[in-house]
Amino acid sequence: MIKTAVIGCGGMGNIHADRYISMPEAQLIAVCDIKEEAAEALGRLAGVNYYLSAQEMLEREKPEVVSIAVPTYLHVPLVQLAADYGAHVICEKPLALTSREAEAAVRYCAGRGVRLFVGHVVRFFPSYRQLAEGIKQLGGAGGGIYHAKRAGSHPGQVQEWFRDPALSGGVIIDLMIHDIDYIRAAFGDAVEVYAFEHQTETMDYASATFRFGNGTLAQLEAFWGYPGSFHTSFEYACAEAIISGGTPDGESLHIRRGAASGSATGFVETPSSVLLKDPYYEELEHFLHCLASGAEPMVTAADAAEAVRWAEAAVQSGATGLPVQLNAKGVIR
Ligand SMILES: NC(=O)c1ccc[n+]([C@@H]2O[C@H](COP(=O)([O-])OP(=O)(O)OC[C@H]3O[C@@H](n4cnc5c(N)ncnc54)[C@H](O)[C@@H]3O)[C@@H](O)[C@H]2O)c1
Repeated sequence: MIKTAVIGCGGMGNIHADRYISMPEAQLIAVCDIKEEAAEALGRLAGVNYYLSAQEMLEREKPEVVSIAVPTYLHVPLVQLAADYGAHVICEKPLALTSREAEAAVRYCAGRGVRLFVGHVVRFFPSYRQLAEGIKQLGGAGGGIYHAKRAGSHPGQVQEWFRDPALSGGVIIDLMIHDIDYIRAAFGDAVEVYAFEHQTETMDYASATFRFGNGTLAQLEAFWGYPGSFHTSFEYACAEAIISGGTPDGESLHIRRGAASGSATGFVETPSSVLLKDPYYEELEHFLHCLASGAEPMVTAADAAEAVRWAEAAVQSGATGLPVQLNAKGVIR
């Protein structure tokens, strides 16, 4: 069994701890939070030691794997601290607030000989997995049009640090990055991004259009402060078919195939069910399997750093009102 520990006992730390407890291949041995009540509550719930200092926990407990679930501006220093103690790291997304820091974290872990995994959980949602398969099957040689929307109440209502872009990165770096990582995996290298962001005290809305080399356009929307329940939706359309879906994740995807030429029928609807599996469990289990086998994960640390770079480019475009070119190498020009 792999000995795991969690740093940060807030929303995501509780999820990581809960999944480790129920996973046969993992043993949660300790948790840590600078807020005593948060550390104590999760430590007691999980029946493990709790700490107020990450360093003390790493020194005493010597976990093999550490989940980092602290506010985003603290990800990189804590990733580095865990790596210094020889622990493999599973860090919540986004890996860092800037691509420079993200790339430094990837190099740091490689230099210390520890694996770094980043929780881009959308890759593990059943509907998005099915969508990825659909996009692959369609080929999309001539390019397609992708729309995705992700919206919910402002997280700053619950945790104040989300309101400060210097701490959370704002809605593009924090929320849209889910879809940015997803379109990188689905469509490859983008050529350019053009974005718009509107921030007020109570809302942060962004829309970004990524243009890919084969002509595919991906239009992403992310919205904090949406006055309704949290939801996501996506649609991919190309000449051959439309695939659409979204929340709730257990629902069928809708696939409408264009009629073959000469056919008497129009579009054919083929809904297909997906089994609802917990994506956080699947993600952590996948990372632990990769650790045990040495296999590359579905989403690598380099992918996570690149997602930060694309998000950064979208922020830059939103701030300047100009499109930003993305080259394949990883430099914002
Ligand atoms: N994958 C997802 O679906 C998802 C969803 C929400 C948040 N997140 C990400 O997870 C991370 C955490 O978000 P959250 O909503 O759990 O935040 P949160 O504010 O609920 O929890 C963070 C916890 O970290 C603790 N903390 C702060 N500094 C610390 C330190 N030095 N050592 C130990 N603990 C410390 C805080 O006291 C707090 O309890 C963020 O990066 C966020 O973007 C991911």
